[in-house]
Amino acid sequence: MDSAALHEEIDSFFESAPPLKDSSKVTDKLKQFIEFNSPSSGEGRGRRVVCVTSGGTTVPLEQRCVRYIDNFSSGNRGAASTEYFIKAGYAVIFLYRRGTCQPYCRSLPEDPLLECFEIADDVDIQVRQPHSEAVKGAIRDHHAAVTGGLLLKLPFTTIFEYLQMLRIIALSMRSLGPHAMFYLAAAVSDFYVPWKSMAEHKIQSASGPLDMRLMQVPKMLLVLRTEWTPMAFCISFKLETDSKILLEKASTALKKYKMHSVVANELLTRKEEVIVVTSGGNILVHRDRTRTGSDVEDPLVELLVDRHSTYIKTTSTGSLSK
Ligand code: PMT
Repeated sequence: MDSAALHEEIDSFFESAPPLKDSSKVTDKLKQFIEFNSPSSGEGRGRRVVCVTSGGTTVPLEQRCVRYIDNFSSGNRGAASTEYFIKAGYAVIFLYRRGTCQPYCRSLPEDPLLECFEIADDVDIQVRQPHSEAVKGAIRDHHAAVTGGLLLKLPFTTIFEYLQMLRIIALSMRSLGPHAMFYLAAAVSDFYVPWKSMAEHKIQSASGPLDMRLMQVPKMLLVLRTEWTPMAFCISFKLETDSKILLEKASTALKKYKMHSVVANELLTRKEEVIVVTSGGNILVHRDRTRTGSDVEDPLVELLVDRHSTYIKTTSTGSLSK
C-alpha cells in the first residue's frame, strides 16, 4: 500500500471513531508526567520514558455494545515488563486494557479483595496471614512508583480508544527525542466495524445468521515510528501459534514498520522464551530456569534497556540514521 492510501485509511479510522472521553484530561496528565520526567525539567530527573502497551483491544459489534470481538492477552507481559523498566530507572506510561494484569499485583490471588482480607472483630479489616507479604509488597511498590512520578496508568477497552490514546501519547512523547521508547506488547485487533456502519442497538438473533463485513484496522506502526515520534526507540511484538512462520513474520515487520526490534513469541512458550529480532541478527532470550519464579521479562527488559542506551549514544553523536 502506498503512503497516500495508508494516510487516507488512518484518517478515515480516526474520523469515524467515537471521540475519546476525557481526552483533554489524558493530555493534561501526560503533559505533567512527561514534564516531570523530562531531561529539560530543570529538576535533574532526566529519566527515559517508555510507553508499555498491554492487554487486548476489543472490537464492538453494536454502538450500545452487548457483543464484541476480543484479542487474547492476559496483560502479564506488559505488567511484568513495567516493573522491570521502573527498576531500571525508566518512567512508564502503562496503556492497558481495563481488567487485565497490573504491575506489582502479579503475585496476588485472582480475587485479592476477597481472598487476601478478612474482618477482624466485626469492625476492622486485616490481611490474612499467608498473603501478608505479597499485599504489603504490592501496596508499597505500587505506591512508590505512582507517587514518585514513575508510573502513569491509562486504561482502554476498544480499538478506538487504544489507537486514539496511542497517538496522543506518541505526540506527547515527541519532545523526549531518543529518550522515548515504545514497547508495544498489546494484542491489537486487525479487523473492526466502522462506527458509522455499526448497528446502534443489540443485533437481533431472530433475523437469522449474522453476516457482517469487517474492515482492516490500519497498521499505525509505521506512522508512529516515522511521523508521530520519529526519534523514539520502538519495539513491537509478533505473536503466532505456528512456529514455522513466526520469525519470517517478525523480520517482515522489522523492515516494513522500521522497528528497532521485534519481539517474536509463540503462544504456548511465551512465558519461557522470546526471540528478539533485530537488523543485526536474532537473540534468544529465556527465563532463568534455575530460579523458581523467574520470568522472561527480566532478561528481555535488560537487553532492550541496553540496546536503548546504545541507541541514545549513537543518535546523540549523530552516527545513527533515523
Ligand atoms: O499478555 P500476555 O498474556 O502476557 O501475552 C503477551 C502477548 C503474547 C500478547 C505479547 O507478547 C504479544 O505478542 N503482543 C502482540 C500480539 C499481537 O497482536 O501481535 P500482532 O501480530 O497482531 O501485531 C504485531 C504488532 O503490531 C503489535 O506490536 C501490535 O501492537 C501492532 N499492531 C497490530 C495490529 C494493528 N492493527 N496495529 C498495530 O499497531
